[in-house]
Amino acid sequence: MLCIIEKLLSKDEVKQFRDHLKNANWESGANTAGSLATQVKNNLQLDDSSELATGLRNHILRKLGNHPLFVSSALPVKIYPPKFNCYTQGGSYGAHIDSAVMPVPGTSTSVRGDLSATLFLSEPDEYEGGELYVEGIEGGQGIKLPAGDMVLYSSGYVHQVKPVSEGARFASFFWIESYVRDEKKRSLLFELDETIQELSRKLSATDPELIRLTGIYHNLLRSWAST
Ligand code: NI
Repeated sequence: MLCIIEKLLSKDEVKQFRDHLKNANWESGANTAGSLATQVKNNLQLDDSSELATGLRNHILRKLGNHPLFVSSALPVKIYPPKFNCYTQGGSYGAHIDSAVMPVPGTSTSVRGDLSATLFLSEPDEYEGGELYVEGIEGGQGIKLPAGDMVLYSSGYVHQVKPVSEGARFASFFWIESYVRDEKKRSLLFELDETIQELSRKLSATDPELIRLTGIYHNLLRSWAST
């Protein structure tokens, strides 16, 4: 599954993020990679404990919570606090797979990565290269989105960020634990929800079949959801 969420952040919000990130303290991303990933990870990351990172990630979390397409496609139960990275001067992240379970620093909670998200904070013409390649997903090759747009994909896929040969690619990235772990079930629920939304634009809210179909959606979610 691959889902593009357009305009999660407005261009004004992106500008504010970028103004903050420009002067931020960046550290080597290899510090936070697993032992295998260290060998392929070559980028910069923002210090997660900084006040700046906290403010920016809370802003993203607020936007996500209010975004119907995100909620409907991901069915989120937990979101790993968004992190920030920068690829520049040939920086890249070779083929790797994200960890299945990630402890949230400073808490006793962990997040199972069902979905991975990248929120682009640089416009495509600001850098050369830097495409996100997700292996094995139709349409998942060479993702490079306008600033403010986000891609959501299943964490079970090998993926990589191609070298950035010119300019700088700023992004936020994080993981989502879904109420519905199984990707096929989650995709079916998403498709059903989209269909119901379409129908509800054409039919009255009191239409009996529309009410029944909505009931089927919720009863399926009830039987498939777990935390
Ligand atoms: Ni990754």
